[in-house]
Amino acid sequence: MSLTAKLVKYPHPSLRYPARPITTIDRGLRLLAGRMLEIMYENRGLGLAGPQVAAPIHIIVMNFEGDHTQKEQECVAINPVIVDRSGSQDGNEGCLSFPELFQDVRRAKKVVVRAYDLEGKQFEMECTDLPSRLWQHEIDHLHGQLFIDKMSPVGKLGSREMLKEFEREFRGSQKRGTTPSDAELLKQLASWTMPDPGPIL
Ligand code: CO
Repeated sequence: MSLTAKLVKYPHPSLRYPARPITTIDRGLRLLAGRMLEIMYENRGLGLAGPQVAAPIHIIVMNFEGDHTQKEQECVAINPVIVDRSGSQDGNEGCLSFPELFQDVRRAKKVVVRAYDLEGKQFEMECTDLPSRLWQHEIDHLHGQLFIDKMSPVGKLGSREMLKEFEREFRGSQKRGTTPSDAELLKQLASWTMPDPGPIL
């Protein structure tokens, strides 16, 4: 993969492609994480998952305040898993791969997550409310699950037109040759490799 990683939008097949756990934490991965944070901030998001930049691996980046000046709110998580969840919360949710689409989604109120950081150190975090929602949304991405799957029936109905529009736009760009075909995109995902950071100079 090149460093030109960019945000993919629904219905790009990467969003449904099974991502794999990461086995090596190296400079290539750190480079990718940095680029993902950039993309997240450029688009004013709170979080971004590997599949959203067509990287089919278990990495997510987040900033719990969505504010690039608050680096202490930043979190890069490798192979994150939810080890405990409790309660429930309803709240509005969006996703950078679905620009302008917001709907209520029911999530666990509280989660305990376990993950590795970019130094390979395991950490555990307990969150409630918005940070908890964010972790659940981003971890879903790693398993090909999207917030449109979890909307209420009313939310799904209310999203139908926008989803159709995303489809039209994506298929249109494939017809024009701006975006490769699904078959080609799937081939790229299957042969995906970590970005090459180049020599240390
Ligand atoms: Co998302």
